[in-house]
Amino acid sequence: MIEIKNLTKVFPARKGLLGHDAIKAVANVCFSIPEAGSVSFIGESGSGKTTIGRILAGLETPSSGDIWIQGVNVTKMPQAERRRFLRQVQLIQQDPYQALNPARTIEQALGDPLKVIARERGQDSAWIQTRMHDVLHRVGIEPGSVLNKYPHMLSGGQRQRIVIARALTVDPKVLVADEAVSMIDVSLRLGVLKLLKDLREQFGISLLFITHDVASARYVGQNGQLFVIYKGMVIESGPTDQIIDQPYHPYTQALLSAVPVLKGLENPGPDRFIPLRGDDQELIPDTVCLYQPRCPFAQTKCREERPALQGTEHAHACHFPVVRRVVATVRANEG
Ligand SMILES: Nc1ncnc2c1ncn2[C@@H]1O[C@H](COP(=O)(O)OP(=O)(O)OP(=O)(O)O)[C@@H](O)[C@H]1O
Ligand SMILES: [Mg+2]
Repeated sequence: MIEIKNLTKVFPARKGLLGHDAIKAVANVCFSIPEAGSVSFIGESGSGKTTIGRILAGLETPSSGDIWIQGVNVTKMPQAERRRFLRQVQLIQQDPYQALNPARTIEQALGDPLKVIARERGQDSAWIQTRMHDVLHRVGIEPGSVLNKYPHMLSGGQRQRIVIARALTVDPKVLVADEAVSMIDVSLRLGVLKLLKDLREQFGISLLFITHDVASARYVGQNGQLFVIYKGMVIESGPTDQIIDQPYHPYTQALLSAVPVLKGLENPGPDRFIPLRGDDQELIPDTVCLYQPRCPFAQTKCREERPALQGTEHAHACHFPVVRRVVATVRANEG
């Protein structure tokens, strides 16, 4: 349903900074999200995950590449039309508190976008009320308990549910959840993750799930695809469980090794721990493997040629791919 081809985003150099080179935040990224499907992106800070999400939600324009949504090439549309069209993609950001105006009640926060839609669709205030109750029920909140409240009177989990409810007012086809639970109290995270999963299963909303946390990608992205992003490029992609269970790329292996929840549960492979070395090299020439300066397995070829992403279902960009099992076996029905 959504098809992204060769997405690239170059930010101009910031003035006044030393070594002012333009920043290639996203480079030739390709992926698709099927209807009711889920795609997760993992990668370190600064790898370009948020930039991809913001482009998809129409908040940032790509430098090049194409975005197809339901057979329409969005990048070819005039800006106003594109904005309207991209309402089908709603972004859920990290901080629900920042996303809500502290001076507006929940009723007002949900009423504002609903009034716009009611006007467009020729609906009245009764429709707005029904719809408001409907989206709140969908996110597991009893309307009477929140409508007159202000954001600070709710828990972080409830606030994020309200943000999701507001996104649902426009009937989105896709939710982009960018670190959507990282600022929520740990005890409330699972509930919000479950909600994202349920919205996908019950209402067919597709999910682009952006995270540092492989464990939540595995939970939300069951039967989905996982993309491992390194310095703006996809370096491994494929079915989520398969990548976690049989990662090819040393970077993926190092990311997985660093996750305590996934380690040593049962039956881990012989290669239990692959270190993630410090990243001190800012600019890496196009002619070498991006990960080579940090890779414990780098060989001469890695310093001479950038590996392309190869393979179809489970793809990787490594000259010397070796499956190293660093986590326990993934059980299909878990979670
Ligand atoms: N508006 C901007 N202007 C200039 N550079 C930017 C801008 N937005 C992002 N960048 C740069 O683009 C790169 C990717 O940033 P992005 O925020 O997409 O990473 P991320 O993977 O979401 O990181 P994090 O995990 O910390 O959220 C970084 O080098 C960042 O500094
Ligand atoms: Mg980010």
